[in-house]
Amino acid sequence: MSVDLGELERLRAAAREATKRAYAPYSKFYVGAALLFDDGRVVTGCNVENVSYGLTSCAERNALFRAISERGAEAKIVAIAVANATGAPCPPCGACRQVMSEFVTADAVVTFPGERGWETMPFAQIFPNRFQFEPEAR
Ligand code: THU
Repeated sequence: MSVDLGELERLRAAAREATKRAYAPYSKFYVGAALLFDDGRVVTGCNVENVSYGLTSCAERNALFRAISERGAEAKIVAIAVANATGAPCPPCGACRQVMSEFVTADAVVTFPGERGWETMPFAQIFPNRFQFEPEAR
């Protein structure tokens, strides 16, 4: 399923809107993420920090866990948008890429603020060779 420009723009706007709910009193870096699923659904998330800094949870993973908690894991992600309050470069972190990789379609795209405005690239390009193993083979 390919995603058109209008859908990507709507997804970016949803990610930007989600930054308003970010709980980031420590870093003051307010992040929002929006996921578009192959059933047309859009689910957003924001980062939630904690005074015990390492317990912080990123916007992208919060969006994904919310989506699965609400509707299960059947639908796949076709596009991911990440935004922040200032427009600073903000590609998804490595941990979020690994988590997302389990729920994306083969041609999923990710769009985020880059050094020169919005960048959009195939998820497979920003995260090739995901970690995986077959538990039943052990
Ligand atoms: N953060 C995200 O929400 N997503 C990312 O992909 C990278 C970083 C958050 C975590 C923390 O609350 C703040 O940004 C600064 O690292």
